[in-house]
Formats: sequence, structure tokens, C-alpha cells
Amino acid sequence: MSAVTSEPADPVTRQVMVDVHGVHKSFGPLEVLRGVDLRVRTGEVTVILGPSGSGKSTLLRTINHLEKVGQGWIAIDGELVGYRLSGGKLYELKEKDVLKQRTGIGFVFQNFNLFPHLTVLENLVEAPVSALRRPRREAEATARRLLARVGLDDKADAYPRQLSGGQQQRVAIA
Ligand SMILES: Nc1ncnc2c1ncn2[C@@H]1O[C@H](COP(=O)(O)OP(=O)(O)OP(=O)(O)O)[C@@H](O)[C@H]1O
Ligand SMILES: [Mg+2]
Repeated sequence: MSAVTSEPADPVTRQVMVDVHGVHKSFGPLEVLRGVDLRVRTGEVTVILGPSGSGKSTLLRTINHLEKVGQGWIAIDGELVGYRLSGGKLYELKEKDVLKQRTGIGFVFQNFNLFPHLTVLENLVEAPVSALRRPRREAEATARRLLARVGLDDKADAYPRQLSGGQQQRVAIA
């Protein structure tokens, strides 16, 4: 495996793709995010670094509106995540509209969240067919191409329990 990181030629003028603005998040008395600002431009690769329990996953979950923010806002490609702005006030979107927004955002969970009763290939085909209404044959072709890309084309018919931790994570990435 190798990773390719493209250096933006014009980092300042590139479009802001992920815009996190003054985000606060608390769980009861525990204040996890205290006014986080983050801008990621198109093509940029960003690493979020910090001790265990410092809020990295929570921040990523707010970007997908899996956690509601207490204060602040997040926009992706210029569109507010989880809220709409009307008359200077934020109103939370209906679950149906949040789900639609999420179909455009990729997210690899820390604990992979593979379906244990489905093969590797079936795990990859499920969401495109059920959520995006892609034809099964097309979804399977895409799944096999993605598996090859993460070096797992020989594991399409294996179940998650038959894979190593890193292999399971690569399935989740695919
Ligand atoms: N749903 C929740 N309810 C209550 N507390 C939570 C919840 N989710 C996370 N926390 C707490 O918020 C803090 C931040 O958790 P988070 O998962 O964001 O950490 P992290 O930086 O991703 O850590 P790690 O490096 O261990 O994955 C932790 O103290 C955690 O216990
Ligand atoms: Mg985490």
C-alpha cells in the first residue's frame, strides 16, 4: 500500500470544503469541544491529533451531524450541516434531510461498524443499493474495484471475523 498526498499548488485560493466555526459540544457537565475552528480546503489532507478522550471522534461526528453542536456551525461545500438558516436563526433539519446530507459525506467509524453476518462484498454493496438505490450489479462492480484498491480483492467472500483488524478497517475505508 502507498498513500499519495497531493500538495495544493494554491492553498489559499482553493475552495473551503469543510468549514467548522466556533463549535462547542458538551456531554452533561463534560465540555469536550470548546470553540473549535477548522477549515479544510479541497484536496487537502488534514490530521487531527490529540490525547485519547480529547474529542477527536466527537469533532468528526459533529461534521456528519451524528452529534448536535451546542454552539457554532459547520458547513460542507458551502451548505450548513444539520441546520438551515432562516431570518438569522438556525433551525435543525428533519432527520430525512439529515440522512440525505449524509449520503454525500464519507465517514469511517473508529470501530469499523461492519455487518458481522455479511461478507466483505455484501458489506460494501448494502449502502449503495439500500440508501442510494444503485443497481446491485453496478454496486458490486464498484465494490470489487474499491476492494482491489485497498488490496483486498481476494477477501470479497470472507466474513469480517475472518479478517485482521487492519483488513477490517480497510473494508470500512472501501
Ligand atoms: N455519547 C457520549 N456521552 C457521554 N460522553 C461521551 C460521549 N461520547 C464521548 N464522550 C466523552 O467525550 C470525550 C471525548 O471523546 P472522543 O470519543 O471524542 O475522544 P477521542 O479524542 O476520539 O479519543 P480516542 O483517541 O480514545 O478515540 C471523552 O471523555 C468521552 O468519554
Ligand atoms: Mg476517537
